[in-house]
Amino acid sequence: MRILVTGGAGFIGSHLVEFLLSEGHSVHVVVDLSTGRAENIAAFRDHPAFSFDQADIVTWDGLWTAARTADQIYHLAAVVGVRRVLDDPIRVLATNIAGTERLLRAVAAGARRPRMMMASTSEVYGFNANASQSEADQLTYKAGNWARWSYAVSCVFSTWLGHASAAITAWCCQASSNERCAACR
Ligand SMILES: NC(=O)c1ccc[n+]([C@@H]2O[C@H](COP(=O)([O-])OP(=O)(O)OC[C@H]3O[C@@H](n4cnc5c(N)ncnc54)[C@H](O)[C@@H]3O)[C@@H](O)[C@H]2O)c1
Repeated sequence: MRILVTGGAGFIGSHLVEFLLSEGHSVHVVVDLSTGRAENIAAFRDHPAFSFDQADIVTWDGLWTAARTADQIYHLAAVVGVRRVLDDPIRVLATNIAGTERLLRAVAAGARRPRMMMASTSEVYGFNANASQSEADQLTYKAGNWARWSYAVSCVFSTWLGHASAAITAWCCQASSNERCAACR
């Protein structure tokens, strides 16, 4: 399969890329290297099934072709980290939201309907007091302290948009059904 990994030089992405290549897939990484490191993917640079673009998914022209030609997409590109969240919440919100929206639009514009995985975070549960969280839990925020929750809100938005766009084919649009419908297959 041809697999697109956004943020593929990051902590999680680089390990995922290693695994996908070992499984015999063709892997295309797009990453701006704002965090993550070139060394993380140095071992794959000469791999015949590996390709790489250093680019910002918010502005990169190649995103449309990359998304349209992928069989699967792992969307891991995001501005993350406590320091960045507190120091630059606008960048966190703008990049994470705009990047996801643009990627979903690119997928929707193609005919291939790739299966797509988007990373979220336990941060989305906010002030939830439970010791462990469940996907059925409430998301609890207080108004104010905008910087603190910028990352969580950007992840909530991305997940919501993914579901709403139906570009995510890993879940059926007939939410109560275990079998995916024709549109989601
Ligand atoms: N590591 C964790 O414990 C953890 C926990 C919860 C969720 N997540 C999520 O998993 C994903 C990956 O996290 P990570 O820990 O590997 O982070 P990371 O910072 O190591 O990797 C993120 C990658 O995205 C890239 N990136 C950021 N903005 C970009 C843009 N506009 N265009 C292209 N590339 C861009 C960065 O350069 C970096 O390589 C993120 O979405 C994060 O929210 C991670």
